[in-house]
Amino acid sequence: MFISFEGIEGSGKTTQIKLLIPVLQAKGYECIATREPGATKIGHKIRAILLDAAHATMLPLTELLLYEADRAQHVHEVIKPALAANKVVVSDRFFDATTVYQGYARGFDLELIQQIHRIVLGGLRPDLTLILDLPVHAGLERAWQRINSQSGGLPEDRFEKEAIAFHEKVRQGYLTLARGEPERFRVIDASGDRQAVHRDIVEIVLSLHGQGLP
Ligand code: TMP
Repeated sequence: MFISFEGIEGSGKTTQIKLLIPVLQAKGYECIATREPGATKIGHKIRAILLDAAHATMLPLTELLLYEADRAQHVHEVIKPALAANKVVVSDRFFDATTVYQGYARGFDLELIQQIHRIVLGGLRPDLTLILDLPVHAGLERAWQRINSQSGGLPEDRFEKEAIAFHEKVRQGYLTLARGEPERFRVIDASGDRQAVHRDIVEIVLSLHGQGLP
């Protein structure tokens, strides 16, 4: 079983994955939590290049190909082996993030992105994709609080520095994807408190039992 989490900056994906994993483990599922970009040794270096605010001159094409390079490594090293071992894989972002950030928001041709995904993913798709949805201003407020409270290391704020209109395109992009593929996506209202969001997520994930959750 493969579950991906998506959403705008500050939507709470990382927190919610941390809350979900112990619930699944308590039910006896073997799980791994992973993320994009940066889940592998090579990916970690790619992430640092991608998110460094000093890289303001990075071409959109460079950005697109770096995300895909990270993903190729991630699929090969982490996701496929875990799925083959019958684990539940929970990924903090996956290929929909490229469709939305580089496609809907940056304006890359969606057909080109799909072609690259055919190469990078073969037919691999998450069984379930949870979109944590909330208004852009609320998400960005949370994201900046997190960035400003981080100590040490370079701030990973290249995307947070994008204009509000960019983040609005990201939000709308995710909602468009969800409408087009309702069997894979669930949109969750992430503006509420974290325990309420957690309960919604657990209910959806556990309802997959019998539909492939091992
Ligand atoms: P994170 O904040 O969820 O760790 O994600 C890092 C940033 O990378 C976030 O701003 C979204 C962006 N991103 C893309 O633009 N395209 C992608 O394919 C992925 C996986 C992330």
